[in-house]
Amino acid sequence: MRAAAFTDLVGPDGVGIVDQPAPDPGPGEAVVDVDACAINRHDLWILQGDSAMVDADDLPFVSGLDVAGTVEETGPGVTGVDTGDRVVLCPNETCGTCRFCREGPENMCENFSLYHGGLAERALVTADRLVPIPEQMDATTAAALPTAYTTAYRMLQRADVAAGDRVFVPGATGGVGVATVQLCDGLGLESVGTSRSAAKLDRVREAGLDRGIESADVDEIREAVDEPVDAVINHLGGEYSELGQSVLRRGGRMVVCGRTAGGVSEFDVADLFLQHKRIVGSTMGTQPDLERLVQFVADGAFSPVIDDTYPLAETGAAFAAMENRESVGKIVVEG
Ligand SMILES: NC(=O)c1ccc[n+]([C@@H]2O[C@H](COP(=O)([O-])OP(=O)(O)OC[C@H]3O[C@@H](n4cnc5c(N)ncnc54)[C@H](OP(=O)(O)O)[C@@H]3O)[C@@H](O)[C@H]2O)c1
Ligand SMILES: [Zn+2]
Repeated sequence: MRAAAFTDLVGPDGVGIVDQPAPDPGPGEAVVDVDACAINRHDLWILQGDSAMVDADDLPFVSGLDVAGTVEETGPGVTGVDTGDRVVLCPNETCGTCRFCREGPENMCENFSLYHGGLAERALVTADRLVPIPEQMDATTAAALPTAYTTAYRMLQRADVAAGDRVFVPGATGGVGVATVQLCDGLGLESVGTSRSAAKLDRVREAGLDRGIESADVDEIREAVDEPVDAVINHLGGEYSELGQSVLRRGGRMVVCGRTAGGVSEFDVADLFLQHKRIVGSTMGTQPDLERLVQFVADGAFSPVIDDTYPLAETGAAFAAMENRESVGKIVVEG
């Protein structure tokens, strides 16, 4: 079978189409005939050689977390899914025995890791991580949901938001950013988002953004957010964390999941304790979160924003679009 593998960790030019043996499912596993796999900044970090998880010894490396397709074969002992079922993968890999696996939420598992392998014609997965796709939903729509939307959904829960709250979303045009805006819209929250591109902000407005700030200058953005916000959903890190803290109201919450703009941030200690603010870390969501999101989409609550789709052979171009900050919402590779 063909796979779009990372053959060199140099960015989008390092993606090559390779031939690999067809996977053979072991106990508890299933082979999914991949119809769609969304890409995430996480894959791009790996491709750029900026992830501790993958180095030159691991090449060729097949990334891709957000797999949707049809079950082609199941291994011994699999009961939950059958050949021919249309499914989307929850990419969480958990140990099942630690305190967080037992008490929840499972995304806090002490041995948490992520599935990789969706950028291929077939994916070998853990069968009980497969969520059924409703009949009326296409695979590309389903593939948009697992990483970006469950992460945003869980971050909003961690931010203790309530209808009417004002939520600041620096970088509102990417996967997690647009997901946050759409969920805010559905939950009756007011969203204030940023981008360096006015044209991209216009497209996010169509997806429910209440207020867009076109700027990449944190001081300018601070000025433009003229009223304090109840919550900040921060996937950028770097100087955007200080910005986020400074625009929070007394008792406000900032939830952080990423480091696109920098892995180190400073925070104002006195402002934090005197203003009773909270800064919270969060990673991914739970499989039930994904199940709920699939249902929300099936019920017509929202439809994930998909910027563009690329055939497997053009996976490098898909990553170039992400790297060049050209896209709004999700980028999906179709098998
Ligand atoms: N912890 C977790 O579980 C988890 C899960 C998902 C994602 N993440 C992290 O969250 C972040 C977003 O992921 P994603 O897949 O949504 O990425 P993405 O789609 O590539 O995000 C694009 C967004 O980031 C902004 N951006 C890109 N580079 C920037 C820079 N140098 N400075 C400021 N803004 C920049 C873009 O702004 P413009 O509109 O101005 O171009 C756009 O709004 C990543 O750091 C990722 O690793 C973490
Ligand atoms: Zn665990």
